[in-house]
Amino acid sequence: MRRSPYKICLKKQIDVAKFTSDIITQQLSKNKNSVLGLATGSTPEQTYRELVKRHLPHQKDWSHVRTINLDEYVGLDKNNPQSYHYYMHFHLFNHVGLPECNTFLPDGTSSDPISEGQAYEQRIIDLGGIDLWLIGIGSNGHIAFNEPGSSRDSRTRLVNLSDQTIIDNSRFFEKKTTVPTQAITVGIATIMEAKRIILIATGKKKSKAIYAALKGPVGPDCPASFLREHPNCTFVVDEAAAILCRNNFV
Ligand code: F6R
Repeated sequence: MRRSPYKICLKKQIDVAKFTSDIITQQLSKNKNSVLGLATGSTPEQTYRELVKRHLPHQKDWSHVRTINLDEYVGLDKNNPQSYHYYMHFHLFNHVGLPECNTFLPDGTSSDPISEGQAYEQRIIDLGGIDLWLIGIGSNGHIAFNEPGSSRDSRTRLVNLSDQTIIDNSRFFEKKTTVPTQAITVGIATIMEAKRIILIATGKKKSKAIYAALKGPVGPDCPASFLREHPNCTFVVDEAAAILCRNNFV
């Protein structure tokens, strides 16, 4: 038996999406009251499309599932098409019959981000913890919006986005100057408490971050490297993302 993190390399992005949606579907079959941690961004879009496809013919029951998202931009309300609230409804929630009251994201418009962060942590505890957290990775190795330099003990909080993240995410906005510069994000400690973590990465632009996460030192320079200390974490990547450390993957 290989040790966590388990490393799986598949040919293409669509294979990563199918594999990952199978894992999530299995989780829901095992426990229809599952608490899923979810991510936004380009990478999970195809996974969500696959989940919606699997939901349609079998009417997989999502009515008892609860979801917790990684993060939300500061200053964007939930009706803003660039907000992560909007993204999640657009790509997943609206298509699988997930009751609105079962879905949770940080409130990026909160006037009191400290209380918002504490309440979010408490919410996760009240839900009984996260059964499976699907996460992505930034080109600089961030997980959620825990940018390089973030502490292993970090919890849900207000953060400044790094220049690299602002540049990377400007593709979702009209121009770079309209990208929010802050977010409310769960912390590394919050993610590490999930029972199971699936990190997905696709494309060559993620290859350096995947290399640093798996082969570099474990520490705040590459926040994703902390996942090597999690007992049940799987990296699922495509060949392009694995290119710098292909031998580490099955
Ligand atoms: C998204 C999130 C981020 C993204 C990461 C990769 O909720 O927390 O960490 O997972 O920035 O984004 P994409 O998939 O757009 O490359």
